[in-house]
Amino acid sequence: MTILFNDQLIARDEARVDVEDRGYQFGDGVYEVIRVYGGHPFCLEEHLDRLERSAREIRMPLPYSREKTEHLLLQLIEADHLKEGYLYVQITRGVAPRDHAFPSKSEPVLTAYAVESQRPTDLMKNGIRAITQEDIRWLRCDIKSLNLLGAVLAKQAAVDAGAQEAILHRNGTVTEGSATNVFIVKDNTLWTHPANHLILHGITRAVTLKLAEKEGIPVREEAFSLEDLRSADEVFITSTTKEIVPVVAVDGIPVGTGQPGLVTRKLQQAFEQKIGVSV
Ligand code: PDD
Repeated sequence: MTILFNDQLIARDEARVDVEDRGYQFGDGVYEVIRVYGGHPFCLEEHLDRLERSAREIRMPLPYSREKTEHLLLQLIEADHLKEGYLYVQITRGVAPRDHAFPSKSEPVLTAYAVESQRPTDLMKNGIRAITQEDIRWLRCDIKSLNLLGAVLAKQAAVDAGAQEAILHRNGTVTEGSATNVFIVKDNTLWTHPANHLILHGITRAVTLKLAEKEGIPVREEAFSLEDLRSADEVFITSTTKEIVPVVAVDGIPVGTGQPGLVTRKLQQAFEQKIGVSV
């Protein structure tokens, strides 16, 4: 595995994390996960837009221009001959003596690497089971920050319950999944939480909404409740690595017929067309 460490490509065993890196000590940094199909990054500009926005929101400078970052990421894909998989990219506020306040001097540290992985076609076809969990995360979920304990605990609760994702809610209002956005279909209308501070503005979410519009599926970017979730005709989740995956049971109770629904299938097919995969 090759590591992009700042602007250098190095071997994994040469890469070192400083114990005083603020990402390591405070989770003080931001990240992106970018899908690679056929050797090409998918929605790279959208991911870099979000990375820049996340950094701006935590008042952290980025180490390189957009052009240079893009160039470095393409070099990384080439170095590892990555065809199918994803890039993990993180930037921390850098290394400084431990103090919660920003250091007066520190250089941001970029780390990135490529992971080979196939599209989760079994999950896409058969769907997953989800549980519901209270959303205990902070109130800036729109920032893709390295602080992921809320997500880690929720996902582990799902795994402990024999499920694959936790659908989060605040006082009965569904927000998103531990690492995915959540959609429901009710009376042939697609519902998903609005892109505000309570959810990550998923790139796959945005792609899915555009595809729905093209397919003539009515969309409502409005919050919905746990009751709406439980009585939905269809439920699905979206993310960079999962694309569009049906949820066939919530808290052990089947969604709709207990099989992936027609609207979900339609959107999956449209997504596959967009990425150039034959169905
Ligand atoms: N997770 N919501 C949360 C909380 C997420 O962590 C993610 C992505 C999404 C989906 O966003 P996108 O479509 O841009 O991938 C929604 C990434 C994949 C992760 O942490 O591994």
